[in-house]
Amino acid sequence: MNIALIILAAGKGTRMQSELPKVLHKVAGAPMLIHAMRAGRALEPKRSIIVAGHGFEAVSAAARTEDPDVEIVVQEAQLGTGHAVDQARDALGDFDGTVLVLYGDCPLIQTRTLEELTATLNDSAVSVLGFDAKDPARYGRLITDGDKLKRIVEFKDASPEERAVTLCNSGVMAAPANFLFDLLSEIDTDNASGELYLTDVVGKAVARGLQCAAVRCAERETLGVNSRIELMQAEKEFQNLRRAEALEDGVSMPAPETVHFSFDTVIGRDTVIEQNVVFGPGVTVESGAQIRAFSHLEGAHVSRGCIIGPYARLRPGAELAEDVKIGNFVEIKASALDEGAKVNHLSYIGDAHIGARANIGAGTITCNYDGVMKHHTYIGQEAFIGSNTMLVAPVTVGQDAMTASGSVITQNVPAGDLAIARSKQDNKSRFALKLMKRLRALKAAKQNKN
Ligand code: UD1
Ligand code: MG
Repeated sequence: MNIALIILAAGKGTRMQSELPKVLHKVAGAPMLIHAMRAGRALEPKRSIIVAGHGFEAVSAAARTEDPDVEIVVQEAQLGTGHAVDQARDALGDFDGTVLVLYGDCPLIQTRTLEELTATLNDSAVSVLGFDAKDPARYGRLITDGDKLKRIVEFKDASPEERAVTLCNSGVMAAPANFLFDLLSEIDTDNASGELYLTDVVGKAVARGLQCAAVRCAERETLGVNSRIELMQAEKEFQNLRRAEALEDGVSMPAPETVHFSFDTVIGRDTVIEQNVVFGPGVTVESGAQIRAFSHLEGAHVSRGCIIGPYARLRPGAELAEDVKIGNFVEIKASALDEGAKVNHLSYIGDAHIGARANIGAGTITCNYDGVMKHHTYIGQEAFIGSNTMLVAPVTVGQDAMTASGSVITQNVPAGDLAIARSKQDNKSRFALKLMKRLRALKAAKQNKN
């Protein structure tokens, strides 16, 4: 289907109590606008237009990071949803496909629901997505006659009988472009808000003797965010949805309610995710990996058979090959670890390349930052880094090489060599006993004085 997506995102969102435009508030690590864009983008629209107003620059920038080809039109003053859609008229020109209108503050809408909606356009001039509301509150009401949609009435304009209707308008609408803009020329501001209502196009189409359809979806999908409380509800819904999906896709989670996903987390089947794991944006975990309790991952790629955590932190650019082991209190940043490498305890690995099956001892630090610049550390395959080694980058430890525990490595270590970079041990014979005796005597003398 030849689709043009129009996403309305010009509103201020006063009730968010925020400097940030409403549609840029995040759900699962991505602005709500991006969620709407992704749901729409899956339909492979020919055109994508965002109507922006409040926070125009910031909204445009965020939209372009998701889709560099997105078109952005400005709505200077927010004169209503009908006026907002009309702002895309010039940009669409003689586009003769279907327009699909979404709201930028409605992050839970699902692609398959949008597909169901647009599929009804064969028999309907305008199709509207509705839901049976538990509490219809101030939503617009869908006035139907049997399975036909007759008109939409806004809460403010509705009679008591109309307010008793529980089938509500989600705001999502689909119609042929030419027809929609034609109808939009007919609507007026003769209503309780003095705004141009997009919803009025339904009544106009019906007045022309055309048929309109209401398609129902689950209420949670249409959750529109107007306040921080609703933002939190959207987050909760998203997480529940994502957890259920992961379980269905073959991921094991003993306590799914404690696992936090990002909008773009990818998890392979037969992966186990233990309690209290947090996925920031940009994480892919391949099949059969284990993410143990209390680990935090973002911008990381974890391959098959890896074991991460408990209490591990993978930061952006962590690229782990198969069967890598990352243990407790280990932080990995912008580093590639080849197959079977192990960093099991209390270490920081940043800007490094660790060769296959290398073993990084407890307390190892790559000293990657000199206060101004970042430097790289290279560790060859099967190297053995002794506990508490400081690797002062830039530095290379060759393959099969070793470093002695407690070493501060400032020079390259050739392949197969052992580097010892610490002061030599000096044992003072019987001196510990003498020293203790003296200290105890000093303490006793002090106590006698008091
Ligand atoms: C709208 C619908 C209502 C529906 C409800 C669902 C109309 C007239 N009413 O009401 O039937 O039940 O959504 O949530 O359409 N926007 C602009 N420019 C404007 C006005 C709005 O871009 O001039 C954008 C907002 O940023 C928001 C969306 O359109 O993303 C909806 O606007 P909002 O003011 O929240 O409409 P509602 O009164 O909730
Ligand atoms: Mg609203």
